[in-house]
Amino acid sequence: MQTFTVHHCGPIRSTITIPGDKSMSHRSAMFASLAKGKSTITGFLEAEDCLSTVSAMRSLGSHIERTGTGTFVIEGTGGHLSQPTGDVDCGNSGTTMRLLSGMIASQPIHARMTGDASLSKRPMGRVIKPLTEMGGRFTAEGGDGKPPLVVEGGKLTPLYYEMPVASAQVKSAILLAGLSAEGETSVVEPAACRDHTERMLQEFGVILDLGTPDANGRRRITLKGPQTLKGRDFVVPGDISSAAFWLVAGAAKEGSEITMHGVGLNPTRDGIISVLRRMGADITATPSDPNAAEPSGTVVVKGGRLTGTVIAGAEIPNVIDELPVLAVAGALASGTTIIRDAKELRVKETDRIAAVAGNLRAMGAKVTETEDGMVIEGGYPLRGARLQCFHDHRIAMAFAIAGLFAEGETVIEKVECVATSYPTFGATLESVLTA
Ligand code: S3P
Repeated sequence: MQTFTVHHCGPIRSTITIPGDKSMSHRSAMFASLAKGKSTITGFLEAEDCLSTVSAMRSLGSHIERTGTGTFVIEGTGGHLSQPTGDVDCGNSGTTMRLLSGMIASQPIHARMTGDASLSKRPMGRVIKPLTEMGGRFTAEGGDGKPPLVVEGGKLTPLYYEMPVASAQVKSAILLAGLSAEGETSVVEPAACRDHTERMLQEFGVILDLGTPDANGRRRITLKGPQTLKGRDFVVPGDISSAAFWLVAGAAKEGSEITMHGVGLNPTRDGIISVLRRMGADITATPSDPNAAEPSGTVVVKGGRLTGTVIAGAEIPNVIDELPVLAVAGALASGTTIIRDAKELRVKETDRIAAVAGNLRAMGAKVTETEDGMVIEGGYPLRGARLQCFHDHRIAMAFAIAGLFAEGETVIEKVECVATSYPTFGATLESVLTA
């Protein structure tokens, strides 16, 4: 069993290398595999989740060659996936299973997608429902919309779909299915959620109508099928969701100064910066090429005192993966931090509301769990504790950060899951602890 053993540390003054963005790495392998022609992807996140996507795409007929660290040369299928010979193993990755559902549903193949214990408990009904309306045929062998998922692909009809939750995975699954359906497929998002699929499909030559958000932030995204992607080169920036751990550590520890280069600064993902600034953090973000399809740049965080804030409403999808570590920031801040409208956290790799509230309480924080979030009374000193991460990478890393502020030793058990999104986190943590 791997553990993180963490203790209180002094100011963190370093430059930290952030690995590639997980969402974009998945999409780069998928879109290059769907495309006609060759693509070279650099900066690809070689973590378990994204490597699950690489092996899934290989099993669906794509030629993917790893030519160096984070570099993959992909000869696409021109939009014609082939029949896999065995199960398509999606590992721990919800993104792989949900986006593949959209891609496979329109192909004349059948596939059985499986996942690990955590993925097998996650709801797939949210993609099965709209894809079935398009003519896709799904069987959820786990019952109640749960994996394994069997997809019998075939000809799809276009769809107009108003998403009940702002989910980038659902939006992406429908748009990917719409690529092969004849006519206009539209997805309406109730609030802005990460738009990598839209930006990257355009990079791969797809014509999309991005609509204009209304006063409530609702937006209709439309594409006209059929369309074929064109191979191209794509550079994956660093993952702001991985940078998030160091942003919180640096912001809350007085005297710190952490620099991170090449961090993705997509406006549908950078909410952590605005939330921490609202809490009083000193963060500068300088885009290197603001006109790039996926903007990225240098982020510098300097330590100081934080105060509590409210994180709610339309901001939630923008910080959905950062909420565990933002809750830790709330415990370190003075005053109250309220997280609400975040019920989605209950269906992530684990129930992140219960996991975060339970672990913070074990460290001596004052936290009240609510149905869709939590209320944290900040400023109570944290004490070291022995914690579980419930096979959830973001819980493991968020509490390693909490341990840097606690009195005594914090041990987080079974942290192998961190390899799904940030395999070098442990080494960076070690360098911070021994600096
Ligand atoms: C992701 C979308 C989000 C996020 C997940 C990755 C993606 O999930 O939590 O880690 O790459 O599209 P939802 O779309 O379910 O909100």
